[in-house]
Amino acid sequence: MTAATGRPALHFTTRQNWINDPNGLLWLDGTWHLFYQHNPFGAAWGNMSWGHATSTDLLHWTEHPVAIACTPEESIFSGSAVLDRANSSGFGEPGRPAIVAVYTSALASGRQAQSLAYSTDGGYHWTKYEQNPVLDRGSTAFRDPKVFWYTADDGTGYWVMVAVEADDHRVVLYRSDTLREWHYLSDVGPLDSPDGLWECPDLFRLPIDGDPANPGWVLIVSRDPGRTGTGSYTAYLTGDFDGERFTPHPGVGLRRVDHGRDFYAGVTFDGAPGGRRVMLAWLSNWNYAEVTPTDPWRGAMSIPRELALVTGDGAPELTQRLPAEIEGSDSWASPVTVAPFLLEGRRPLALELPSIVDLELEPRGATAIGWEWTVGDTLVARVEYEPASSQLTLSRPDPSPGVHPTFASVERLTVPLTGGRLRLRLLLDHTSIELFADAGRVTWTDVVFPGAESGGAVVFARGGQALVAATVRRGERGDPI
Ligand code: FRU
Repeated sequence: MTAATGRPALHFTTRQNWINDPNGLLWLDGTWHLFYQHNPFGAAWGNMSWGHATSTDLLHWTEHPVAIACTPEESIFSGSAVLDRANSSGFGEPGRPAIVAVYTSALASGRQAQSLAYSTDGGYHWTKYEQNPVLDRGSTAFRDPKVFWYTADDGTGYWVMVAVEADDHRVVLYRSDTLREWHYLSDVGPLDSPDGLWECPDLFRLPIDGDPANPGWVLIVSRDPGRTGTGSYTAYLTGDFDGERFTPHPGVGLRRVDHGRDFYAGVTFDGAPGGRRVMLAWLSNWNYAEVTPTDPWRGAMSIPRELALVTGDGAPELTQRLPAEIEGSDSWASPVTVAPFLLEGRRPLALELPSIVDLELEPRGATAIGWEWTVGDTLVARVEYEPASSQLTLSRPDPSPGVHPTFASVERLTVPLTGGRLRLRLLLDHTSIELFADAGRVTWTDVVFPGAESGGAVVFARGGQALVAATVRRGERGDPI
């Protein structure tokens, strides 16, 4: 174990014990509801139940009692939640719609089937439907239902569920008028290498380049290649959905939503105002999730990101940015701006945890420029750009003593300069670094464990000069939950 690490200040963690996937993400009457895979009794995976937290600004979260609890026969695996406005399920009353959670019952028999629970008090108390499960294929790997209301061109609509046959690398689609009876629509996949699992799908529409007349569809699927290599990550396909079948755009396969190591099971909030798509993911990786050196909590959620689709090379691509709620929050201290200066060598830059750091780097002869976070002589994370190859690299060594043999990472991507400059945004917290580059086309999310000391940062330019400018916004909220 490394020395105790501070608790994240911007990222949701539970007071104690284990969490994994975000579940049941739902916006309702000004409140963002986050449910999540939770072990209420320990800091390792087990006793899977849905925990619950709420926020009004996507930054400060209040943890509530367990929402849907496991029993000896039934673990409550991942799923989603919707507001049943028209009371199609009959769980609500006229004028008092129920929230319906659709989750996977992982049964003691090994079978996985989809079940319902409902809340008539805005998400705080839940009743399991007595006729569960509502959808059973006799499978042992049928899970993670994400349900949304689909509106056809003629204005009529129905519920659509995307779920996975995890071992077969398939997303399966169903429809329903009542949330209780489901009818098979179609399959997507298998599409990629036969190893590992497909988990936690999502399906949603987004305008391409902000043009509502030109919508695209995004199918999210998380990939766990079997706890080897670089481990688990969230991926996506773009394509079209006609209410029955998802047809991927030709020529592009699964792409990563995030290029770091710790962004898994990413799914979006249902019902977000203005049709926005806000994604949350689990800030961990199945390779080492159960051995991360934190106590008494284990696991955190990513910062929420607002997604957009932009014209890309061949097919549209996803971009990510901080939602306005976070960007404009009064939880940030006034920005400290470091005016542009010419740099050759290294120069300290204040490291504030938590903070948003905006860096602008313009190569003026340097062969490498970047930013480094260190504790004493020990590197926590390094961002480095080589102008000659346009390669941006995020490196994260394994702390000592190590977390896991696959923890150390060096991820490289091609990122073009814009107007001769590289613009990077870093979101820094006590146990994570989230990097946004190339106008949100590229993000990296990595957990880090600097230990009890948070350390310091430098900017650097090697082999020549660079023009550097920075803005640091410190988060006011220092108090952990
Ligand atoms: C993904 C996952 C889901 C499952 C849940 C169980 O991390 O394996 O497929 O529903 O976690 O906790």
